[in-house]
Amino acid sequence: MIGEIDAADIVLIAAPMHNFTISAQLRTYIDYITRPGKTFGYTEAGPKGLLVDRPVYIISTRGGQYGDGAPDKPNPYDFQSSYLRHILSFIGLTSVEVIAANGMDMGDKPQAEGLAAARTKIDAIVKAKVTELAA
Ligand SMILES: Cc1cc2nc3c(=O)[nH]c(=O)nc-3n(C[C@H](O)[C@H](O)[C@H](O)COP(=O)(O)O)c2cc1C
Repeated sequence: MIGEIDAADIVLIAAPMHNFTISAQLRTYIDYITRPGKTFGYTEAGPKGLLVDRPVYIISTRGGQYGDGAPDKPNPYDFQSSYLRHILSFIGLTSVEVIAANGMDMGDKPQAEGLAAARTKIDAIVKAKVTELAA
């Protein structure tokens, strides 16, 4: 599993919000890939991530409303985004972008709005990448 993530150009994580944080399944995956001497190490200056940085995108589906997961205006109940940013940077992956789909369990209108916001963000990411590759 570490070899798989190490070989990836881009990492995409599907993360449904469970009890304000990540699912047990995703937590188990993180337990498998967060290993001393392999994905992090300790130096005199403190812990150091050993994976080479690369873009990480997190698709975060939420039943309720928790904002967009951006680090500059965190929602106090969104423990998912802050935890994922922390643990991924601990293993060396600091370029983390959260794509939030809020309101999934709040009825048709909030769900459609949540999906539209997520799709808009995905489109913007793809457009920026295409522009970068064309330059
Ligand atoms: C065990 C469990 C816990 C959940 N906890 C939360 C929660 O804390 N906050 C929230 O907004 N939604 C919560 N939900 C709802 C899911 O985040 C929501 O249904 C989401 O759309 C699931 O994503 P998926 O359809 O991609 O699996 C929970 C769902 C489950 C099954």
